[in-house]
Amino acid sequence: MESAVRARRRLTGALRRAGALSDPAWIDAFRQVPRHAFVPRFFVTEGREWVAVDRYDPGWLRAVYSDRVLVTQLDEDPGAWQAARRSGPMAGVPTCSSSMPSIMAIMLEELLVSSGNRVLEVGTGTGYNAALLTHRLGSAQVSTVDVDGELVRLARDRLASCGYRPRCEIRDGAQGFPEQGPYDRVVCTCSVSTIPQAWLDQTKPGGLVVTTLNRPIGAGLVRITVAEDGTGCGQVLARDGRFMPLRAHRLTEPGWLLRKVQPNGDAPRTTPLSVRATLNPSSRFEFFAGLALPEVSPALYPAFPDATFLVHADGSWARHFTTNGRYLVTQGGPRRLWDLLEYAYADWQELGEPSRDRFGVTITPERQELWLDDPASKHVWPL
Ligand SMILES: C[S@@+](CC[C@H](N)C(=O)[O-])C[C@H]1O[C@@H](n2cnc3c(N)ncnc32)[C@H](O)[C@@H]1O
Repeated sequence: MESAVRARRRLTGALRRAGALSDPAWIDAFRQVPRHAFVPRFFVTEGREWVAVDRYDPGWLRAVYSDRVLVTQLDEDPGAWQAARRSGPMAGVPTCSSSMPSIMAIMLEELLVSSGNRVLEVGTGTGYNAALLTHRLGSAQVSTVDVDGELVRLARDRLASCGYRPRCEIRDGAQGFPEQGPYDRVVCTCSVSTIPQAWLDQTKPGGLVVTTLNRPIGAGLVRITVAEDGTGCGQVLARDGRFMPLRAHRLTEPGWLLRKVQPNGDAPRTTPLSVRATLNPSSRFEFFAGLALPEVSPALYPAFPDATFLVHADGSWARHFTTNGRYLVTQGGPRRLWDLLEYAYADWQELGEPSRDRFGVTITPERQELWLDDPASKHVWPL
């Protein structure tokens, strides 16, 4: 069986080749910090259900040292893993995970830390990311908070067993952790719909806040520089990252929205736009699509297994499907969402097909907005 050390080297090599990791100090951290100490148990999917995996199961170590998200909690229920182990695969919504190592690597590199920096991590989870930060910066420089007391207790113990002793506390991360501030860096490993003012207040002028945005279409990684007056200005980054949301920032479940969908809508018509070109995170248009269709969620609907839906809480919906190689769409409700998407595509082309990294973000106590190319641009959207 491959040893943990070899497995870590293999994973680190893969992250480097994939372009996720290039800073020698982070390469060293990924080589040294034992991810397996933080994920002795997790869940893997089997169809629509979750199977509980234990460290004695075959394939456990290989899964730990692969570029995979490892779900460690379902429905905020600390007993779910035991229940699935006892009674077999179960349904549930992931509420904690050790994120994909490639996304963690990207986020850590985009944090642009240097020795001596004080860092706050929001979303301790398993503690693995806090261990990487602590390996790089030292225990005295790192604080990490999570809203879930059981997770904090486990993470603190596992960090200590590896020799890492960052401050690890139960807190609502939206309030930051003023006791240990001000920070040079704040990094959030869950996603947010808006940037909590507390993070800017607790970051030194010139310091950075790195987080993912929680948007149903066009989520993204942003890096915000904090100014002397406590406002923030930053960029959407070219490298992308998607995380589960901060608890209070969860979006309306598309499943609930779908119940509002009426089976009949307009007669189907052809559309030049594919789902892939519009909704896939690798599509250049996706970020702009999210700006044009705020609070619209993509969703799948069991009654139409070959279709992708767009849904909004106002009851608007669009169903996209393919027949004989042609893209077709049918729509209903108060607004025609796919028509709006087609108009947005034309606007995006007129603007020169901007990719996500041409967008930026401004945060003040009065407003939080995204803009194209320049904070003073006339092309602005609320965050
Ligand atoms: C993707 S996990 C974090 C992964 C973690 N950094 C790791 O290395 O394992 C997201 C975490 O955010 C936490 N979380 C959700 N809402 C929160 C909040 N309001 N404040 C602090 N943590 C929160 C969840 O409990 C969960 O543990």
